[in-house]
Amino acid sequence: EKGTYPHFMLKEIDEQPFVMRKIIQEYQDENDEIKLDGQVRQAMLETDRVYIIAAGTSFHAGLVGKQFLENIANVPVEVHIASEFSYNMPLLSEKPLFVFISQSGETADSRSVLVKIKELGHPSLTLTNVPGSTLSREADYTLHLHAGPEIAVASTKAYTAQIAVLAILAVDTAKAKGLSFDFNPLQELAIVANAMEGLTDQKEIIEEIARDFFTETRNAFYIGRGLDYFVVQEASLKLKEISYIQAEGFAGGELKHGTIALIEEGTPVIALATQESVNLSIRGNVQEVAARGAKTCVISMKGLEQEGDTLVLPHVHELLTPLVSVVPMQLLAYYAALHRDCDVDKPRNLAKSVTVE
Ligand code: M6R
Repeated sequence: EKGTYPHFMLKEIDEQPFVMRKIIQEYQDENDEIKLDGQVRQAMLETDRVYIIAAGTSFHAGLVGKQFLENIANVPVEVHIASEFSYNMPLLSEKPLFVFISQSGETADSRSVLVKIKELGHPSLTLTNVPGSTLSREADYTLHLHAGPEIAVASTKAYTAQIAVLAILAVDTAKAKGLSFDFNPLQELAIVANAMEGLTDQKEIIEEIARDFFTETRNAFYIGRGLDYFVVQEASLKLKEISYIQAEGFAGGELKHGTIALIEEGTPVIALATQESVNLSIRGNVQEVAARGAKTCVISMKGLEQEGDTLVLPHVHELLTPLVSVVPMQLLAYYAALHRDCDVDKPRNLAKSVTVE
């Protein structure tokens, strides 16, 4: 039920801090250590390469998950769009582990990959919000996202839940491998939950940006580098899907190789700047587009902010920034759709779970 909320999407955006806390609770043992299915741990130890298979928003969570698994657990990862993988399977490693990420657990494109890789005898793990779902029943192992029912077609809390569970999986694997690192995901996720809550106070600013940038426009660009690049891809999907504005999430450094030709007077460009190593370069990209007439806005993170930034997000561990930076992106899409009188929860041409290939 929506309760006092005008839309499920807004309710689900606001539920994200509670989802983070629920995940901490579900994946924590009595000694405050990670609690995870021993068979999943074993499968992670045995594989020489993880193949993440997903669609849409879940694919975008997979892109972030790759960074976790590679940086924290030293496991090589490929992330594939399910509908492409089915028909164009890459050369597989000797001991692949297939990880399906799916809110609904019913996405036909992903299921078709699962059927194929099972025929080949490869092990599979599903991360899903619906444990009894097809992908969960048919895979060897399941990790539950614990996000609660997601009703709005635009996926929000499932994305952050997927990223949180992937972080836990990465750290658990690293520990099992005896790798040393200074990252307690359960503690860091608690900080993330508080940071997400802090953003609730910023809704008015975000609504104002949406009004200013998106009410009239036909197109928009989001730019970022590193992890921010993955988040801006999700940001643009969210905007397209519910506000029908043509949007693109772009790697800041790649603009000059062609796309910058699209920038004209007043083109909206939203930049994300939460990664220290690329902070100066993304700001350089903002200047490049501003010099060509773009209407720009920078969303940064505490510690990296510069004068003139439109929104400064609370500080969280650098690897977990997508969990926080995606929230204003979800809200921007929400308010854009609202101001353009779109049906926020049920956008045209779309279904909540895509059960056809
Ligand atoms: O249920 P799934 O996570 O497998 O769904 C995948 C996509 O269809 C889904 O994320 C879609 O892109 C959303 N509507 C995006 O908001």
